[in-house]
Amino acid sequence: MNPIKKIAVVGATGMLGIPVSVALMEAGFEVTALARNIEQARRVLPAAIRVVAADVRDEESLRAGLRGQDGLYLSLSVAPGARKGDLHTESQGLENVLAAACEEKIARVAYLSAMVHDSPRRWWVLDVWRQALARIKKSGIPYTIFYPTNFMETLAERHGTGSLFVMLGRAFYPNYWIAGSDFGRQVARAFAEPRAANREYYIQGPEPLTYDGAAVRYAQALHRSPFVVRVPLWLARIGGVFSNSLRFNANIMGTVLSYPEEFKAGQTWSELGRPTTTIEEFAAGQAPRKV
Ligand SMILES: NC(=O)c1ccc[n+]([C@@H]2O[C@H](COP(=O)([O-])OP(=O)(O)OC[C@H]3O[C@@H](n4cnc5c(N)ncnc54)[C@H](OP(=O)(O)O)[C@@H]3O)[C@@H](O)[C@H]2O)c1
Repeated sequence: MNPIKKIAVVGATGMLGIPVSVALMEAGFEVTALARNIEQARRVLPAAIRVVAADVRDEESLRAGLRGQDGLYLSLSVAPGARKGDLHTESQGLENVLAAACEEKIARVAYLSAMVHDSPRRWWVLDVWRQALARIKKSGIPYTIFYPTNFMETLAERHGTGSLFVMLGRAFYPNYWIAGSDFGRQVARAFAEPRAANREYYIQGPEPLTYDGAAVRYAQALHRSPFVVRVPLWLARIGGVFSNSLRFNANIMGTVLSYPEEFKAGQTWSELGRPTTTIEEFAAGQAPRKV
């Protein structure tokens, strides 16, 4: 019998938190979203997902939200406009979350990291991600860590405005794009699978495509004539002198586009299931956007 029945999610309202929370709910878990803004969470999450107020900056709210829960799924991010010295959800926030999870005797913590966490580039966000991994492994709570490639949701939410795609930089390597719903089903399997404790999984989808290739396929599935505008990374970096958020985007794209991704998810597929959603199937589930 699976001892994990109730799962709390921190970051449930995020781009990737939503499909994972829905997949956990559909797999039969009782899901509770620990959210800073209850009204906003209620607007984006299905009614069957319980919402309680909690903030990763407030350990007491985390303890209250985690009371009686078995599992914890973390879908946090470094905010695009953030600076190195800020309080980050994946550093001090994570410290608070893990302290509360230890006190409330959470049986498993699952964490969304990124495949590029081991990129050799020098960027403080990569350090935050790597320190987060060390914190989780040191917490003493059985963990499952996911290292995903690019999510198809990025095409929809971050790059798609009608048929116009604004690309920062040029891709050198293909990525095995995955849909959040496929990943969510893998997360659900991991919570149901005792052997997924203290394990790390590469998360990749069915087909390798460059960033441009994926963007064009996504746009073609929604519109007849995709129009890709390319902004060179060097230009975005110059713009980044005036905008934290542009600097962040130039850095993340520089990291992702230079990462030599290879297929590494064979073990994940055999233990947690094989992702099948194509870019076209993903696009079919998205509402067409106006230009
Ligand atoms: N995009 C990709 O292709 C990709 C690939 C690999 C890995 N990843 C990783 O996936 C992770 C999640 O990305 P995402 O795009 O889903 O992030 P996101 O949309 O920014 O979501 C972040 C979540 O954290 C919550 N949050 C922020 N501050 C909080 C606080 N103080 N207390 C409690 N909750 C707080 C937000 O809640 P509010 O609704 O209140 O703001 C939101 O639900 C990132 O770490 C990213 O590196 C992404």
